Amino acid sequence: MICSRAPGKIILFGEHFVVKGFPGLGVALNTYARACVENNDFNYVESKQLGVLFDEKRGFGLNTNIHALINEIRGLGCEKNFRAFIDSSIFISSGMGSSAAVSVALTHAILRFCGLDPSKDLVSKIAFEAEKVIHKRPSGIDNTLATYGGMIYYRSGEFKKIDLEWPENYTILVVNTGIERNTGVVVKDVLDLYERRRDILYNVYLAAEKLVEEALSKIRSGDIESLGELMNIAQGLLYTINVSCKRCEEIIWLLRGSGALGAKLSGAGRGGIVISLFRREDLSKITSILEREGLRYLIAQPDLYGVSQI
Ligand code: MEV
Repeated sequence: MICSRAPGKIILFGEHFVVKGFPGLGVALNTYARACVENNDFNYVESKQLGVLFDEKRGFGLNTNIHALINEIRGLGCEKNFRAFIDSSIFISSGMGSSAAVSVALTHAILRFCGLDPSKDLVSKIAFEAEKVIHKRPSGIDNTLATYGGMIYYRSGEFKKIDLEWPENYTILVVNTGIERNTGVVVKDVLDLYERRRDILYNVYLAAEKLVEEALSKIRSGDIESLGELMNIAQGLLYTINVSCKRCEEIIWLLRGSGALGAKLSGAGRGGIVISLFRREDLSKITSILEREGLRYLIAQPDLYGVSQI
């Protein structure tokens, strides 16, 4: 059996503002989708979390991202049939790039299974084709982070890897609000608001850009602690463009009141995930509160390597 894994991700700064060409900063986290591939008579893909995703024999899943990536790999000359198992600890449908991580891990494993070179550029390209089936116009940040790992600065379709050294004593706590939302609807609402209130909001977008620059300078100088304050300011801007929600705010204030250096929503907002920065020694209080509240959470650090064999 051939197995690969790929990391999930969060957007640290810039969500929504990137849609208008302003910069964003995303980071891969050490929570993974794993894909294992073995010989079979026909192509079959099953996920521990989601059940059967693709079954060529029964004609199931023929219009999905999985089918798209199988077709791409077939186009490279790989005709071997396989059975694949996927197991992922990334929150699903929450803005953590779970579908991209699955596509990247599966592509990497199938390419290896076929004896093809799983170069990162090729894996990311194939996974991007698969992402297009799910998200009509994906930015490409999810497959890029799942493939290359680390921290990525992106703007208008350009991606730049940022050198990152992450001190052991800081962690990122991701909380799942449990509220599902439609990214397309939220993005459209924000664009409509921007059109109606451009005079006021343009400066908010400029502030978001400044935040990314400031965050980069803090990261480059190893000052992780200051990111917390910048995350709180970013949350203020996201609130202003109306992508927060009552439950998001409750969780954000719970985190801030329990030792977070900063907390904000991440991704489309109005639900999905809330992210926060903690000193490791301050985690025990908040985790027992989250457990009492029945909130699902992940304690993570950046993944610096991206897709790899396991
Ligand atoms: C969604 O994860 C991130 C948004 O900025 C949309 C996008 O960049 O395509 C809200």
